[in-house]
Amino acid sequence: MKNTYFAQALKLLLDGTMLSATKIKKSIIKTQNKQQNAFEMVNCPFNLGSVYLKNQIIMSTKKRCRAIGNRPNELMKEYYKQRSGAGLIITEGTSISPNGLGNARIPGIYSKPQIEAWENTTSEVHKSGGKIFVKLMHSGRLSHPLNMPKGSQILSPSAVKAFGKIWTDSKKMQDFPMPKEMSTEDIQNVKTEFINAAINAMQAGFDGVEINAGSGYLLEQFISPISNIRKDNYGGDIKNRCRFVIEVVTAVADAIGKEKIGIRISPYSIAGGMQRYQEIEATYNYLSEQINMIGISYLHLSDHSAVESAIVPLELKKIIRNNFKSTIILSGGYEIEKAKNDINCGLADLVVFGRPFLNNPIQINKLKNTWPLSIDLNINLFYTAVKTVYSEFPACIA
Ligand SMILES: Cc1cc2nc3c(=O)[nH]c(=O)nc-3n(C[C@H](O)[C@H](O)[C@H](O)COP(=O)(O)O)c2cc1C
Repeated sequence: MKNTYFAQALKLLLDGTMLSATKIKKSIIKTQNKQQNAFEMVNCPFNLGSVYLKNQIIMSTKKRCRAIGNRPNELMKEYYKQRSGAGLIITEGTSISPNGLGNARIPGIYSKPQIEAWENTTSEVHKSGGKIFVKLMHSGRLSHPLNMPKGSQILSPSAVKAFGKIWTDSKKMQDFPMPKEMSTEDIQNVKTEFINAAINAMQAGFDGVEINAGSGYLLEQFISPISNIRKDNYGGDIKNRCRFVIEVVTAVADAIGKEKIGIRISPYSIAGGMQRYQEIEATYNYLSEQINMIGISYLHLSDHSAVESAIVPLELKKIIRNNFKSTIILSGGYEIEKAKNDINCGLADLVVFGRPFLNNPIQINKLKNTWPLSIDLNINLFYTAVKTVYSEFPACIA
């Protein structure tokens, strides 16, 4: 410790920095705290429900659109393998059914070939002691027929079009189409699709599932009174708007075990044409209380302000933290120090990292060594089908 202190002091002086002794000391303490924080997160295991994580670094879900024919492939296997130094990987959004497909080239987990293809990826991640959860999603109205197989339907709680446009490979950007208002039968079918997808995930070797009730996808379309204007038991007041999400989570918990399930929510996000509404805090207050009662492993609260949405007020984060007694995961704009602050003050138990893992599979080594996280991102290649800025990096298994 003493040697490190003097070495660092000497470096600062040799750098020619005109600092006072106090400033030098402060700077060194800051560096040491940072190293200590990184050390703990990278080296300390964590029990997430029944799942043992070798470290506390989690890679968040990121749509990458490499699944030609909606089936995982060798390129994707390589991508996840490269990042398996993380204690937990949450995969890209994976559709529970053909109707749930939205963006071009996203994977599914509803057919035998998809299950077999995912198994190649999960076994690869397990070889290095990593764990992997599949992100189960249904796009709902955030879709386009050109991105879906023939015979599929675009469903949403109500016939309310999403604002904006969506990419299609054959006709480039297109307006979102008007979705079909889901019948009671459609609602039951989607619930069954979630159950089957979760069972398929277990078959494919996933360690658990994260149900996406955020990002403007179908489950959030039920939660929001702007996309849900139903007049039956699934629309109207807060209780009714949250009903479908609660039913889905309960059904999936019954099917594969509550300790293997997480849910992701993103209040205040404008992703997928979502908008603010008056009862937003009361809605998530109620939802988090109810989800807590199901007893699932974790609740992942995503603050999309890091990616151009409104900030989730601290007060709401505290309410959710207070309501949900098991593991709280936060995401959005984290680096090690901010992560440790939020964990130390009790706001979160874990955090996830999104963009830092994009163009840098050796991110885990950066965290270990407290090197700066990846910032040099190339957004033009995020969602293409190519290797560049995807798996074209030196592999590193920690
Ligand atoms: C390329 C890219 C794709 C993403 N795709 C999704 C997605 O499909 N679903 C979702 O819920 N979040 C998605 N996210 C959001 C991330 O999971 C994460 O919440 C966000 O990047 C903020 O975390 P960060 O500041 O650590 O990057 C995506 C982010 C990026 C950068």
